[in-house]
Amino acid sequence: MKVVAVLYPGGPSASNPDLLGCAENALGLRPLVEGKGHELVVLTNKEEQLDAQLPTTDVLVTTPFWPAYVTKERIERAPKLKLVITAGVGSDHVDLAAAAAHNITVAEITGSNVVSVAEHTIMEILSLVRNYIPAYKQVIDGRWDIAEAAARSHDLEGKTVGIVGSGRIGQRVAVRLRPFDVRVLYYDFRRLTTVEEEVLGIRYAVLDQLVPQCDVITIHCPLTPDTDGLFNRDRLFAMKKGSYLVNTARGRIVETKALVEAMESGHLAGYSGDVWYPQPAPPDHPWRRMPNHALTIHVSGTSLEAQKRYSDGTKDCVGRFFAGRPLERDYLIVDGGRVVSPSYSAAFKQ
Ligand code: NAI
Repeated sequence: MKVVAVLYPGGPSASNPDLLGCAENALGLRPLVEGKGHELVVLTNKEEQLDAQLPTTDVLVTTPFWPAYVTKERIERAPKLKLVITAGVGSDHVDLAAAAAHNITVAEITGSNVVSVAEHTIMEILSLVRNYIPAYKQVIDGRWDIAEAAARSHDLEGKTVGIVGSGRIGQRVAVRLRPFDVRVLYYDFRRLTTVEEEVLGIRYAVLDQLVPQCDVITIHCPLTPDTDGLFNRDRLFAMKKGSYLVNTARGRIVETKALVEAMESGHLAGYSGDVWYPQPAPPDHPWRRMPNHALTIHVSGTSLEAQKRYSDGTKDCVGRFFAGRPLERDYLIVDGGRVVSPSYSAAFKQ
């Protein structure tokens, strides 16, 4: 069988053996795949080289950080494809309906990087609210203008934070916000139990009620047909003037042009996150030059500890696939011709 892995180039950093997610280190898959007599092809090119491999690929491994966009057309050109694994969390780069129609299993390494993203989210909220990046930049630029830096710097204490999507990451963000003495609202199409709400210290609000109340909103739902453009122009401008938006979920949940308008007009005081569409973001992506952002490239879920966890999970999936054993149930997004993950399935008519 042929396993194709599409991974980001490691370059000189690949000499660090803990950087498992790069092409050179191939998620630690080589001994497993080749040891069982199968073929492993590792690509960094997500277009022509991937297209050339599609007719003979049985298993495709890709990551959200350097996503191979597994479109319906690509699926149709891959007659042998049986399993697509997301080394990480978030499988929106795969056309899930097309995968289901072709009886391809889609799995992701559920839970592998949820702490990594929750920590990054707290960092990004504080970066925006405390106005960290402009103050840091003054140091690099040889400046010392207290007034300029302080005029946009606030305490997080006492503010209202809204969490959109209260799954594994959203809940971990709520836990990590507790010492900051903030009021936390959340929205999810699946409401938590009253006990869970009590333990997490968060209150439910439907999205249209949550949005205008929050000083900070952080997005943690998957990208599905229902959340594509969820933060469109109307919703962005329904946010409180001078509030902040953090998005470590997926770039397309926030409308590109509408966000630029909300930032340039000063309606939003700041935007942060690490997810873009497409990825890698082209040099002229309009978000790169918006005022008052604290965006990073897509790294929150790929700390070295996260890479170890999603490498282990990917090896587990591939090993089970070779042995004809079922995959870990929690990992399944599409299986048996259906979208089965409860975080995705409501958005697909099936
Ligand atoms: P999860 O499946 O545990 O939680 C997702 C939550 O979103 C669920 O509670 C679900 O009910 C909710 N949801 C789904 N559709 C919704 C809708 N239309 N409206 C409101 N809520 C909705 O997933 P987890 O692990 O918390 O990850 C969430 C997302 O974060 C992933 O799907 C992925 O896109 C993104 N992610 C980003 C990473 C990064 O490196 N930036 C790394 C890991 C995940």
